[in-house]
Amino acid sequence: MPARSVIIDCDPGTDDALALLLAFGSPELDIRAITVAGGNVGLERTLQNALSLAALASSAAPVHGGADRPLLGTYGFAPEVHGDDGLGGIALPAGGVPNPALAADAIRDILRKAAEPVTLVGIGPVTNIALALITEPPLAAKIAEIVLMAGSWGEGNTTPSAEFNVWNDPEAFAVLLACDRPLVLAPLELTAHALVTDARIAALRARGGGACLRTACDILDSVPRSRRFGGLGFALHDPCTIAWLLRPELFTTRACPVLVDLVPGPNRGRTIIDRWDRSGLAPNAAVLETLDADGFFALLGDRLAALP
Ligand code: RIB
Ligand code: CA
Repeated sequence: MPARSVIIDCDPGTDDALALLLAFGSPELDIRAITVAGGNVGLERTLQNALSLAALASSAAPVHGGADRPLLGTYGFAPEVHGDDGLGGIALPAGGVPNPALAADAIRDILRKAAEPVTLVGIGPVTNIALALITEPPLAAKIAEIVLMAGSWGEGNTTPSAEFNVWNDPEAFAVLLACDRPLVLAPLELTAHALVTDARIAALRARGGGACLRTACDILDSVPRSRRFGGLGFALHDPCTIAWLLRPELFTTRACPVLVDLVPGPNRGRTIIDRWDRSGLAPNAAVLETLDADGFFALLGDRLAALP
């Protein structure tokens, strides 16, 4: 099988770091670009983190800085989860320099020149992808699939209503919902299956591996254990998107109509995921519902152990 061309748009971020390392360790993926936005922390940190992670994995993928704010307003950061530096205080050697092309321009350039459609992976606020699509809409035809860690069918994790990525740029998410390309969502209820526990971190460490695996485990150890899981662990959100590309058989999916609430107020950024055909609307997304967690962590360990 030829490698799948992908662009990964991110806001590293501890779980973004694991997603990037998983992708760097997966030869099935031809990473055409890493594009970066603010989100978990400010763009100046997320960009440096992406550069450091690419260097740690000896990836030649170009890294492009992008949006430091959403389409409207400003990003809200999450240092309580990711630390002030975005990587839980785990210091990495400095990476290279970013490619001078801005993220949205790089996305458009890659799509415009692509001989085959390109898969877009969004694991942060999707401002960069939205900017690319609204400035050159015909390029949507060059997108094979959009895979997002986004949303929830129940409660949010940032407000009672909204998941962090959508909460941070709901208008950008609405642009992607409307672009009429195959869309796959990994919502909070899916990523909850990828529960990181002390035992799973210990099992990863036992794989041996090199600096990438050790760094990944150090980053995981830095993440506060979530109240949502009784303090026993936390959901490893972003790598679920990469695992979908690598091992879709680990997942179950459901075609659903998905809407997003843009109205200012307590429900802003809420995703309305109609799993039971109550809205009468046509499905516009494949929603990932369940995950074989042991298979996921085995895949993660295999790929991290193969990295430098
Ligand atoms: O809600 C979880 C998402 O928000 C993840 O992408 C995490 O990195 C944060 O960006
Ligand atoms: Ca993220």
